[in-house]
Amino acid sequence: MRTESKSRRVRRMFSSIAGRYDIANTVLSLGRDAGWRRFAVRVAELCEDNIALDVATGTGELAFELARRMDRGSVVGVDFSAEMLSIARQKAEQRGAKNVHFALCDALNLCFRDGCFDAALVAFGLRNFASAERALRELARVTKRGGRVVVLEFTLPPNRLLRWLYSLYFFHVLPFLGGLITGKRDAYAYLPASVAEFPPPEEIRELMQSAGLENVRYHLLTLGTVAVYVGQRK
Ligand SMILES: C[S@@+](CC[C@H](N)C(=O)[O-])C[C@H]1O[C@@H](n2cnc3c(N)ncnc32)[C@H](O)[C@@H]1O
Repeated sequence: MRTESKSRRVRRMFSSIAGRYDIANTVLSLGRDAGWRRFAVRVAELCEDNIALDVATGTGELAFELARRMDRGSVVGVDFSAEMLSIARQKAEQRGAKNVHFALCDALNLCFRDGCFDAALVAFGLRNFASAERALRELARVTKRGGRVVVLEFTLPPNRLLRWLYSLYFFHVLPFLGGLITGKRDAYAYLPASVAEFPPPEEIRELMQSAGLENVRYHLLTLGTVAVYVGQRK
């Protein structure tokens, strides 16, 4: 798929499910998604007064989790879907989250100067980008030397039996339930298909190294269905 057409299709898809995105996440992950984001924030090793970037922030859940950790710092969440950002802004207002700011911006061309964040994170975004390599280079570029880049993404369990069992849920039950909750079954058929096409953790680790990150490692969570990658800007 060409870069532009994938971007356009992905933006249209996420914009169409924005209003039901959070509830679908909670139901389909059996409430695990909040814990995955907490883990990602922990490995970013931020201090209270740091500035962090959440790329492909969607409805802002990772940005809010970062902000909770950084009382005296601030968080910027960016996404290219205005509909997703509108939900994120409403939530910021309702929660009184004053240290979180949202901006419309493409992950492949971040609207920030080099090295201006203490950490840059992306949750469930990388697999959706038209170019994972380019997005990783952008994440590394805007992060200070020594700062962390953290990627949270779905993966398939390494154990073959588990992978088979999980596939029954992921490829069959999840699209059905996602369709019921959001009315957009296509978006929830795209989810497992995009995970199946996405490179395995070792390859993502190498991509992060090629993007200018060092000490890259990853943690597998929830039976290896989710991976959290962390690297340091050289
Ligand atoms: C699966 S959602 C993840 C949202 C959020 N990070 C979370 O943890 O729930 C993926 C998000 O990536 C955004 N996205 C996809 N490609 C993007 C791009 N090139 N630039 C900015 N945002 C993008 C979509 O609009 C969508 O909000």
